[in-house]
Amino acid sequence: RIERLIAREILDSRGNPTVEVDVFLKNGLSGRAACPSGASTGIHEAVEKRDGDKRFMGKGVQNAVHAVNESIAPRLIGMVASDQSDIDALMIDLDGTKNKGKFGANAILTVSMATARAAAASEGVLLAQYLNSDCYLLPVPCMNIMNGGAHANWQGSDFQEYMIAPVGAPDFPEAMRWGCEVYHTLKSVLKKKGLSTGVGDEGGFAPTVPSNHEPASLIVTAIEEAGYSPGKEIALVLDPASSAFYEEETYILRTEGKKLKSGEMIDYYQDMVGKFPIISIEDALAEDDWNGWKELTKKLGNKIQLVGDDLFVTNPERIRRGIDEKSANAVLIKLNQIGTVTETIEAIKLAQNVGWGTMVSHRSGETCDSFIADLTVALSCGQIKTGAPCRGERVEKYNQLLRIGEVIGKKTSYAGKSGFKYHT
Ligand code: PGA
Ligand code: ZN
Repeated sequence: RIERLIAREILDSRGNPTVEVDVFLKNGLSGRAACPSGASTGIHEAVEKRDGDKRFMGKGVQNAVHAVNESIAPRLIGMVASDQSDIDALMIDLDGTKNKGKFGANAILTVSMATARAAAASEGVLLAQYLNSDCYLLPVPCMNIMNGGAHANWQGSDFQEYMIAPVGAPDFPEAMRWGCEVYHTLKSVLKKKGLSTGVGDEGGFAPTVPSNHEPASLIVTAIEEAGYSPGKEIALVLDPASSAFYEEETYILRTEGKKLKSGEMIDYYQDMVGKFPIISIEDALAEDDWNGWKELTKKLGNKIQLVGDDLFVTNPERIRRGIDEKSANAVLIKLNQIGTVTETIEAIKLAQNVGWGTMVSHRSGETCDSFIADLTVALSCGQIKTGAPCRGERVEKYNQLLRIGEVIGKKTSYAGKSGFKYHT
């Protein structure tokens, strides 16, 4: 049972405040969790409560911390930590808004995650084992090795993320090794070309480039130079995060001086998929371009995975609409977009039940909390994206996956190609 609960303000990887929560149980065990934060956030996400005063340029989270300590904690004391759905339902009820706007999703989620951690500690097992005692799949690590868009202060490509997915690796540790080797090789490819090797928010390189094809092409060169076969062994995964360059129903590709309508943007992707070994594109179109998404899925949905991030915001209601309208064939999962562990698991199961892909994701603002690593394995999502193999807050998730693989080795397998169902 929960004895005590404390929230505090800590810092994330961008030097912005975020919420951390400790849940203490009567049996002396405890759980800790911290909340991540996005930069290219979807407009339909649950509310991230910021103080909006002079501290930290308005980004303080003292009100969210206060909400946990004063309003949530007193109601949770005495509850059983493993009654996750009751705890989450109570917090949703106490908040009383549809978008967790009263307490903030950053307050509610962090309590939700810390509670699960405390319950796992109480049972003496890994969080992954606590969430699911018998179904384990180690995911394909989608490593974001070139950053653009908002994650590179719009100095690089318009597209936000260029990831490598070692689908052909025999197991998870090998997949990580392959990815790291390509990352280091890419660094020397960039150096030779006189391009910057400074990194963006998610640890990928972020040089100025003349087009959105260029990073893909540099990565293919790095895959080959590292001795792997592009496509067969290591495939490409994109997240253009297109809501960020969508204005007045037009996709604006600044680097290429192009202004494209939805249909033309789809043609652009079709051309790109023909030129590069791309197996998945996330947020190819904007968060409310529902018609465009339908068209995109008709044209590309039987060739590659089409993932909705800002489109679905891990919200079961929006995912249901997407399923009905055949808007995509996969969903991105971010705990803080919806705000409780229970609703996140509901979103994952909803997508999995109709055969959609599920990719679990970090945020561009992170801490060293590695909750998503355990969640991905427990729910057999088969795919995770948590940045480049660079920057502690990114690497910590990959390291946790290595640990999980070691602890429950015999009960795990590596998702590999089967993690991406829609790749033909
Ligand atoms: P964000 O970006 O965390 O900055 O929202 C991640 C993504 O778009 O997938
Ligand atoms: Zn995204």
